[in-house]
Amino acid sequence: MHFWSLMTATAALASAANSLNILITNDDGFGVSNIREFYKVVKAFGHNAYIVASTSNESGTGGAVIFTTAKNLTADSEFGIVKAGAPSVGTDPNDSHIWYYNGTPSACVQVALDYILPDFANFTTPDLVLSGPNFGWNLGPFLYTLSGTIGATYTAVERGIPAIAYSGGYAVQTPYFQQLILNAAATGSKLMPVGYGISVNLPYITSFTNSSCVNPPFIQTRMTGGADVDGAAYNATSGLFTFKNIVDAGLNTCINGDCSLPGETNILNAGCQSSVSVFAVDYDAPTSVCGQGSATSGLRALLQPLVQYANSTNLIGGLNGTSAAPGTGNATTTTSGGNSSSTGTSPQASTSAPVSSVAGPMVDFSWVAVAGESYSNETIKPSLGKHRY
Ligand SMILES: *[C@@H]1O[C@H](CO)[C@@H](O)[C@H](O)[C@H]1NC(C)=O
Ligand SMILES: *[C@@H]1O[C@H](CO)[C@@H](O)[C@H](O)[C@H]1NC(C)=O
Ligand SMILES: *[C@@H]1O[C@H](CO)[C@@H](O)[C@H](O)[C@H]1NC(C)=O
Ligand SMILES: *[C@@H]1O[C@H](CO)[C@@H](O)[C@H](O)[C@H]1NC(C)=O
Ligand SMILES: *[C@@H]1O[C@H](CO)[C@@H](O)[C@H](O)[C@H]1NC(C)=O
Ligand SMILES: *[C@@H]1O[C@H](CO)[C@@H](O)[C@H](O)[C@H]1NC(C)=O
Ligand SMILES: *[C@@H]1O[C@H](CO)[C@@H](O)[C@H](O)[C@H]1NC(C)=O
Ligand SMILES: *[C@@H]1O[C@H](CO)[C@@H](O)[C@H](O)[C@H]1NC(C)=O
Ligand SMILES: *[C@@H]1O[C@H](CO)[C@@H](O)[C@H](O)[C@H]1NC(C)=O
Ligand SMILES: *[C@@H]1O[C@H](CO)[C@@H](O)[C@H](O)[C@H]1NC(C)=O
Ligand SMILES: *[C@@H]1O[C@H](CO)[C@@H](O)[C@H](O)[C@H]1NC(C)=O
Repeated sequence: MHFWSLMTATAALASAANSLNILITNDDGFGVSNIREFYKVVKAFGHNAYIVASTSNESGTGGAVIFTTAKNLTADSEFGIVKAGAPSVGTDPNDSHIWYYNGTPSACVQVALDYILPDFANFTTPDLVLSGPNFGWNLGPFLYTLSGTIGATYTAVERGIPAIAYSGGYAVQTPYFQQLILNAAATGSKLMPVGYGISVNLPYITSFTNSSCVNPPFIQTRMTGGADVDGAAYNATSGLFTFKNIVDAGLNTCINGDCSLPGETNILNAGCQSSVSVFAVDYDAPTSVCGQGSATSGLRALLQPLVQYANSTNLIGGLNGTSAAPGTGNATTTTSGGNSSSTGTSPQASTSAPVSSVAGPMVDFSWVAVAGESYSNETIKPSLGKHRY
């Protein structure tokens, strides 16, 4: 429902003129419903999309680049879509734009950029890499490093390609997720400055059960602040260690960038809100200067008005949002029906102007929510802890 209404609203933008070449990857594997739904939506918006993702679940591998040493698969892929003995790199039996590779997410990005796209697609370098939506949140710097979902994005950013990671909490009964589609209204415009990427975390969407969280606003955040780092929990019975969560100043001290931004962990824990954290892969140069830009320039300007500051007086939901030209965006002046409560927001309707009425060079963020299909025989686990790499 949301999907189709938004489709209509953005039809004008989904023209060939701003059709993007998009590489989609993840760390849960090329067969899961999340990435398949993501791919369908990206295509439905008129973009040219390829999936290149791991043969099976590669959660928790961060940015590790691990190439297989076997020419053929030694075991069936996820859900048995591809059988043992098939080549270690290949396509889904039903779709030549859906590729698997038997390696980590970062290896899949490298294989996509240096082999699959140049040789088998009609473009060589994607305009954008989208990763996820991950099964579960990836909050804070520790998960930034550890998550294969985010690892794939910083691998792409290191290759000069803008990338966005999505990580979501899910309703128990069905995967239900949102995604961000970027439209470059001005042909040739850069989607993001070189070296930057974005990590988005989405709350539980409850549309199938109730209306407590169907249209979360997007809050600009930073990774430090309330975030967990792992510790080792010893089990004397089993003699084994498992992880335990620790909130430590070592991980949560703001050193770089805009320290006035709230931690993404705090924003997600506060209720029905999504976090949008901008990152840069140049993280070794401490500075007090915010690398994210101002309201009138840089990436911050491109995020407006849909991605709002937590202190905005009139937060708008992420669905049906619209954009304005850089420098003119203002969440509080373009919409209505918001609620700045930090403990959760109500379903909101927006009176924003249709997307197609927005003029000028811009990046349009159109968020949609889609009911995930049971594409494959997978089990959606009911308990979603914080550690969902
Ligand atoms: C690998 O797969 C190819 C093509 O399916 C096949 O011709 C070849 O014999 C396989 N090699 C091994 C070692 O299984
Ligand atoms: C491919 O399509 C066939 C026919 O629609 C279907 O039976 C099969 O399940 C599909 N396989 C995959 C991996 O989607
Ligand atoms: C590439 O392929 C897509 C989908 O098949 C098509 O929409 C697009 O126009 C093609 N682009 C070029 C430059 O041929
Ligand atoms: C709405 O759904 C959420 C998620 O399933 C649940 O936690 C919450 O209790 C529900 N609220 C009501 C009022 O039923
Ligand atoms: C410790 O290990 C035992 C034996 O494997 C297991 O039954 C128990 O649930 C574990 N305790 C915790 C707290 O994980
Ligand atoms: C609102 O939040 C932003 C980002 O944290 C900060 O830069 C700005 O100063 C805040 N504005 C007010 C009025 O507090
Ligand atoms: C944005 O909204 C705030 C609060 O209404 C207002 O003070 C500010 O001038 C607006 N900024 C722009 C650029 O319209
Ligand atoms: C915002 O939401 C809170 C909690 O649901 C509610 O108490 C408050 O009245 C709402 N404010 C507005 C302006 O709707
Ligand atoms: C978005 O707009 C469509 C069409 O106006 C409407 O049907 C839908 O309810 C809106 N969704 C939200 C969450 O406001
Ligand atoms: C999923 O696979 C399991 C194990 O192979 C099987 O028992 C179950 O019936 C399957 N479920 C569906 C819906 O196909
Ligand atoms: C992949 O593995 C991780 C770690 O074991 C797990 O948390 C996650 O749920 C798995 N993904 C899927 C789609 O099952």
